[in-house]
Amino acid sequence: MNDFTNSWLLKDVSTVAVVCTQFGDSGKGKIVDLLAPWADIIARGTGGANAGHTIRRGDQEYVLHIVPSGILYDCEGKINVIGSGMVVDPIALCKELQVLDATGLTHNYLKVAYNSKLVLLSHILLDRLKESQGGLKIGTTGKGIGPAYVDYYDRHGLVMNDLLNPTRLREKLLRNLDHHRRWLRTFNRDLIEKIMFQEDLGGGKFYYPTDLFNFSEIIHQYEECGKSLQRMIVDTDSLLKRSVGEKNILLEGAQGNLLSIDHGTYPFVTSSDSTAAGLARGVGLKGGDIDRIFGIAKIYLTRVGKGPFPTELGGEQSERWCNDSLTTQASEQAIFPHASIISSYDFEQGIGIRQTGNEYGRTTGRPRRVGWLDLPLLRYSAQFIGRYLILTKLDVLDECPTIKVCEAYEYQGPDYVLGDQTFRAGDILKIARPEPEILQHCRPLYKEFEGWQTPITDITYYDNLPSQLKELLRYIEHATDLSIVMVSVGADKDKNISIYL
Ligand code: IMP
Repeated sequence: MNDFTNSWLLKDVSTVAVVCTQFGDSGKGKIVDLLAPWADIIARGTGGANAGHTIRRGDQEYVLHIVPSGILYDCEGKINVIGSGMVVDPIALCKELQVLDATGLTHNYLKVAYNSKLVLLSHILLDRLKESQGGLKIGTTGKGIGPAYVDYYDRHGLVMNDLLNPTRLREKLLRNLDHHRRWLRTFNRDLIEKIMFQEDLGGGKFYYPTDLFNFSEIIHQYEECGKSLQRMIVDTDSLLKRSVGEKNILLEGAQGNLLSIDHGTYPFVTSSDSTAAGLARGVGLKGGDIDRIFGIAKIYLTRVGKGPFPTELGGEQSERWCNDSLTTQASEQAIFPHASIISSYDFEQGIGIRQTGNEYGRTTGRPRRVGWLDLPLLRYSAQFIGRYLILTKLDVLDECPTIKVCEAYEYQGPDYVLGDQTFRAGDILKIARPEPEILQHCRPLYKEFEGWQTPITDITYYDNLPSQLKELLRYIEHATDLSIVMVSVGADKDKNISIYL
């Protein structure tokens, strides 16, 4: 076990949650990997293949989308759980397990909730269609997450257990596809065909021109998935309930508080409650069962897809650039060869931070929009975590001469009524409201810090960190009333510094 797992923070606790306080992608995978030696059970409870959790071991990088990050400890007998609140594409899950097999990772103790919700091919199709046509665009990952949750709440959905009962599967799938076909009539036929021919949707194998869906191919595929997953499908809610107080349970969040359907910047959010409370519910527990929550935040901020982002470097230009489907890591390097973390032009400095921090989506490859750390948003988000914060990717800013932190916003929009409060131009906000109509008119008020401009990745003790960085950390703690218990200074598992052990 490492220092952190031996610390007082994990003494006398049974259930610990790791959640992101921002818009996801803050390095949860690495922290879960670090805490996994302490845990007996590692469970995910929200989202699905929209997540991309990266774990680095030497030269090897593992990117997990559905399987919890604790799977690297399967060989030690630790149980990994795909919880009942998740939406699982069985085809994608089988592929992910094949990749694990190919890299020599076992999954003997992986359990899949019998009542987790299925993401079907038609959900992925609908998700991509909605994002390709006019109307509100969220910039989803295109993994079918929203439509799968919609079906579940509309009581049309299928669950994992259906894969184990072929007759029931056939009946429910026929009914579900029928329902989707009616909805699909409103979309452009050529676009449907184009999407159904995408490689990850089977390259046309599941498409049938007259009927839209090739039912026999689809049912065959799901039956095969059922056979592969059969031994893993169990009642994980009961397993977790029985284990509270008895075993060490690590709950792995997905996405982030600001993307929560209930508490995030709606409608620019994902379709599950990605806070700790939603995570507990998604594994069959109560919020009160969680003994300790670690909130994760990067020292800067990123966001993928659409939605308000007051501290974005390069503002609207960055949003347009990152959401343009033609922008790739290679194309931005070619078009902006001189962009760097020390550029004086905001948009190019954003590209520089993106390149240094490798801020490209693990699920979609999209460039992540980059901006400065936003304390009004962090203060808002802190309400869902309690006290303990882990700050990640500090080393990314090593070369930055000046580091900005947004202390507060000045609202500059028209009068806007939010419940019993009216926001007026000139209002100062210390705590953000997750309402896009407000956030899009907020001008960040920055405090500037001198950068440390020296590599910190090999530093192992807090006392040895550069004084400029320690000053910044103290400021963040003071300004948010949170305790920073660990900082991460590199991608490798051991590149962390525990504070206040
Ligand atoms: P969906 O979850 O695919 O429906 O996407 C909804 C919004 O959440 C989009 O803005 C996505 O970019 C964002 N999102 C979903 N999953 C992640 C994630 O794991 N990291 C960061 N953003 C995500």
